[in-house]
Amino acid sequence: MSDIKLSDRVATLAPSPTMALDAKTKGLIQEGVDVVNLTAGEPDFDTPVFIRQAAQEAMNRGETRYTAVGGTVRLKSAIQDRLKADTGLEYRADQILVSVGAKHSLYNAVLSLTNPGDGVLLPVPFWVTYPEQIRLAGGDVQLVDIDPSHQGELRVEDLEKALRSHTKGLILNSPSNPSGAVIGRAHLAAIAAFAVEHDLWVISDEIYARLVYDGMEAVSIASMPGMSERTVVINGVSKAYAMTGWRIGYAAGPRHIIQAMANMQSQCTSNPSSISQAAAEAAITGPQEPVEEMRREFDRRRRYAVSRIQDMPGLKVNEPKGAFYLWVDMSQLLGRTIGGRVVNNADDLALLWLEDARVSVVPGSGFGVSDHFRMSYATSMERLAEGLDRMERLLGE
Ligand SMILES: Cc1ncc(COP(=O)(O)O)c(C=O)c1O
Repeated sequence: MSDIKLSDRVATLAPSPTMALDAKTKGLIQEGVDVVNLTAGEPDFDTPVFIRQAAQEAMNRGETRYTAVGGTVRLKSAIQDRLKADTGLEYRADQILVSVGAKHSLYNAVLSLTNPGDGVLLPVPFWVTYPEQIRLAGGDVQLVDIDPSHQGELRVEDLEKALRSHTKGLILNSPSNPSGAVIGRAHLAAIAAFAVEHDLWVISDEIYARLVYDGMEAVSIASMPGMSERTVVINGVSKAYAMTGWRIGYAAGPRHIIQAMANMQSQCTSNPSSISQAAAEAAITGPQEPVEEMRREFDRRRRYAVSRIQDMPGLKVNEPKGAFYLWVDMSQLLGRTIGGRVVNNADDLALLWLEDARVSVVPGSGFGVSDHFRMSYATSMERLAEGLDRMERLLGE
């Protein structure tokens, strides 16, 4: 082995704690084993045809060269219109940056706002990427526990408890991956007032905003008083338009922050794919019915999966109001022997389900909670039903 040392930066980067289980699931599927995979973080639908056609047309027109670093004028203009229609927010073109997926937009934002030692508030459960990005920037991850009586919805009181003198920012994700919780308007207003009072920046990851249920509205915190000048809104086409592989995300915020993020991007990746940008433009400006069709199908599966889980012994779930995941509390099963093995956390349960029932879910450890697991309903109704049957059968043994 070589003596070359890695940088401290990457030495502290945590590999996903669920990687071993993920590798095992993929390995089994590759061997031809019939595993019901409920781990997906992406829609199971294909990208709508008209979007794919727009990409082909862009190629044929010769749009195969570098674009402006922060995105084409046409795509930025489409994003401006979409943000206005969906959230009421008005941005100029120089307040928008298009990047290689929302994850890239987040990275640009976190790196542009966080100094070494700065505290960043992060509600639990969190999407696995946030703490690693904060750490890459040298920031201090300040976990925020959500009062369990609030069905996973963050409240300002939770933030107040976690606030310290070095706190500089807050990462919000509503609707949430993994919990599906959506922060209601009144609670969001209180959180906004808290951010203003303590002079915090906010990164608001709204990637699931189009996938909300039960008449819920996904409100952007950037639309609240005093917030547009301290908020970077993150969104993209991955989840709403079933375009995860195209890699187009975007950020909207104060001009000087967006400019700094664009400078970073200009030295790291340059523009996202010109062809994907043309496809994203078509997605954002074209007919929005496909989004509604997918949302309705997700909703149907959501209601079905929630009722099935609620009927299973030892499992509890809050009805998620957005995204396409159930965040299931398995704490009542801790210490129990299932299938001949003692279950001490959700990792044990997930392994047991995979090995003995051939159904795969994501244990909560990667999201900061060891007695919950995430199951995705971004799979066909038939496979979802089959997966739930398998889970139930093993629990009943
Ligand atoms: C909360 C959240 N934010 C951002 C992303 C990343 O989106 P993209 O594929 O556009 O990078 C994901 C993807 O799983 C996500 O769940």
